Amino acid sequence: MEAQTYSRITTKSLQQMKSNGEKIAMLTAYDYTFAGLVDASGIDIILVGDSASNVMAGHETTLPITLDQMIYHASSVVRGASRALVVVDLPFGTYQSDSKQALRSAIRIMKESGAHAVKVEGGKQSKDSIERIIQAGIPVMGHLGLTPQSIYKFGSYTVRAKEDNEADQLLNETVMLEKIGCFGIVLEKIPATLAEKASKSVKIPIVGIGAGRNVDGQVLVLHDMLGMIKEFSPRFLRRYLDLDKIICQAISKYSEDVKSKDFPNEKEQY
Ligand code: KIV
Repeated sequence: MEAQTYSRITTKSLQQMKSNGEKIAMLTAYDYTFAGLVDASGIDIILVGDSASNVMAGHETTLPITLDQMIYHASSVVRGASRALVVVDLPFGTYQSDSKQALRSAIRIMKESGAHAVKVEGGKQSKDSIERIIQAGIPVMGHLGLTPQSIYKFGSYTVRAKEDNEADQLLNETVMLEKIGCFGIVLEKIPATLAEKASKSVKIPIVGIGAGRNVDGQVLVLHDMLGMIKEFSPRFLRRYLDLDKIICQAISKYSEDVKSKDFPNEKEQY
């Protein structure tokens, strides 16, 4: 399947990609410089994930990041991306109280960052909030399976929906999210056969992370796939670089050059 060229990816083009059998490539980014590189490399969706709480701020979970912090990251990413669709996570505590709170949070993200869509974790418990956001004209991506904002409810990051009742619930919620108007769904860390079933049961694209190959696209956290952070090593993570080593070598060489008085030389001064 030859990839089509799109000047700006929209929720419509993603739908078209699914119906053409063209896989969707999605990655996270949290700042202007990386967003520019990710965008120039042909990634279709840039997710300003609340994983910023982990990889940018060093928190153990995604719970502490605030709406203001997400808006700061998102507006930096939007300035760096000219082709990709920019989707921003609604952080923990900004949509669970009621659907009015959810709409207010989504509107702030869209107005203050210039992003194109939001992502909301959860199935039936998030239904009212998602519906209200979509009614206001804001595209929503769902997120089912392992939902990191509920980590303290589940107690672990193990594979979700292995039991029949949980698997049935996930399939029902996938169909429900399509019905209420989500333009796509992220499925995280669930059995590959279940993810394939979910993808076949809806027309909207299913983007997987640890959900096998028979879905409509894949998403990874940028810092993990570049090998900048090594503490996190789930089976689904493919590392494309050991960027930590490359960066540390360059920085150590700079430090050595400063201390040995090799840097700056005569040509590097005024
Ligand atoms: O926050 C994030 O990076 C995510 C992805 C793991 C899908 O939600």
